[in-house]
Amino acid sequence: MTNENEQPEVVITVRENGPYRVQGPVRIVDIDGNEYDLSARKAVSLCRCGGSTTKPFCDGTHSKIGFEAAERAVAMED
Ligand code: FES
Repeated sequence: MTNENEQPEVVITVRENGPYRVQGPVRIVDIDGNEYDLSARKAVSLCRCGGSTTKPFCDGTHSKIGFEAAERAVAMED
């Protein structure tokens, strides 16, 4: 999937009471700038509950700890 500039599109989907699902060509690096190997993945899920033992990736802990979050898009004010 590409955008209007023919650039590969990155889509981040906020999962209901779960992680951020990232699809598209992204690089994820740690605090030292080392890149995670995402070559075997078509998409990644990033933890937003804080409970994963494999941060920054989701390991499913969110469902065990009952993580709840608002995830609907709302208009932002300036
Ligand atoms: S969002 Fe899945 S473990 Fe945190």
